[in-house]
Amino acid sequence: MTMTNLLGLLVLLLGGLALVAADQGYEGYRIYEVTPQNAVQGKLLHQLSLEGFDFLSESRLPGRPSRVIVSPAQLETFETVLRGQKLAHTLVNDNLGASIAKEFALRQLQRRLSPITGKGRLSTERYYTHEEIINYIDDLADRFPRRVFVKTVGWSFERRVLKTITITNGDGRSGKKVIFMDGGFHAREWISPAAVLYVIDQLVEQFEQNADLLEDYDWVILPLVNADGYEHSQSSTLSRMWRKTRQPYTYAGQTCYGADPNRNFGFHWNEEGASSNPCADTYAGPTPFSEPETIVVRDLMHSLADRGVMYLTIHSYGNYILYPWGWTSDLPDTWEDLDAVARTGAEAIKAVTGTVYTYGSSTNVLYIAAGASDDYGFYAGFNISITMELTGAGSIGFNPPVTRIDEFVTETWIGIRAMAEKLIEIY
Ligand code: ARG
Ligand code: ZN
Repeated sequence: MTMTNLLGLLVLLLGGLALVAADQGYEGYRIYEVTPQNAVQGKLLHQLSLEGFDFLSESRLPGRPSRVIVSPAQLETFETVLRGQKLAHTLVNDNLGASIAKEFALRQLQRRLSPITGKGRLSTERYYTHEEIINYIDDLADRFPRRVFVKTVGWSFERRVLKTITITNGDGRSGKKVIFMDGGFHAREWISPAAVLYVIDQLVEQFEQNADLLEDYDWVILPLVNADGYEHSQSSTLSRMWRKTRQPYTYAGQTCYGADPNRNFGFHWNEEGASSNPCADTYAGPTPFSEPETIVVRDLMHSLADRGVMYLTIHSYGNYILYPWGWTSDLPDTWEDLDAVARTGAEAIKAVTGTVYTYGSSTNVLYIAAGASDDYGFYAGFNISITMELTGAGSIGFNPPVTRIDEFVTETWIGIRAMAEKLIEIY
């Protein structure tokens, strides 16, 4: 069967099937792992993702597994496609709802047993709230007034404060080069802010061991970009898999919430791999920078661009280190530098934990998707711009159970540290 026929069949099968509605429970939802054997099957998976199937990780590379959530209503179509195309697959979770309920109950229990104030060092034993993260960085600024500076950089749509933490070595020298890092673009990817908090801990509390990283560089870090979405994903089991921001959009008489912040940047906006449907999970927004959160990141990038050497944004999951471009399969002229930094990160992790990170340009190793922050950062002037997709684990998919946060954030730090060292060597 040709590709066109195949996609035609798929569109037909899916005709009339509503996109996964927001805020419904996950009772009876399943997670499948599917492994495309060739480019045609890879393309088919990508098409499924555009048709309302929620992919937790997605690869275009033959032989690399992807995970997808399948609702009870989608099951028949999905099984027909699997059978028709002889797609290799395994059932990873036969009731996502039960897994989410269990995670939620454990979380409630943990919070009751040891409430957190956000003062002092944070343990890697739990995922924190937006408020706790803000309290934590404010407290660091109080405790390390010579080395740490916290600044309000804006507000989310629901008026949550967004703050950066700037970490220096305290020598008072201004105009140093900058590494700009952020986390929490996608609400449900809880391991992302957790990994960013660990980086902050290393640079501040473990300063002596990491002083070389702060000699000629300041680190500017926005730990949680999509504060509204993140809080929403923590508020109830029904919204655990929330990805987008929370600004409402009305479409065909129906209100859907949020845009995908990583499709909302004004560079080749909405050209590829994004949706114009406000109810879709990869909704690009009505216009570029329609979301206050992406405006904050954009303005930070421009204000830092003349000193900015690396932009690093943390997502999950799939174990990738990605660099531009994500809007085209073409490579930037300086791709060899990007590749060298990415390779250094991947090799460092491999050497210490054995985890294999795939590195390469976003379009070539993952999928084409325009309007993401990495492309924008590169376009805005950061020499190196990287999206890191961390390890996923556990039956829910996105989030390692709390018992494994430590393992993954320390692994991530190994990669980030190695990339920063390489950067210092090159620039
Ligand atoms: N998983 C990320 C996303 O879908 C990957 C972004 C990679 N970068 C890109 N420009 N496509 O948002
Ligand atoms: Zn993401």
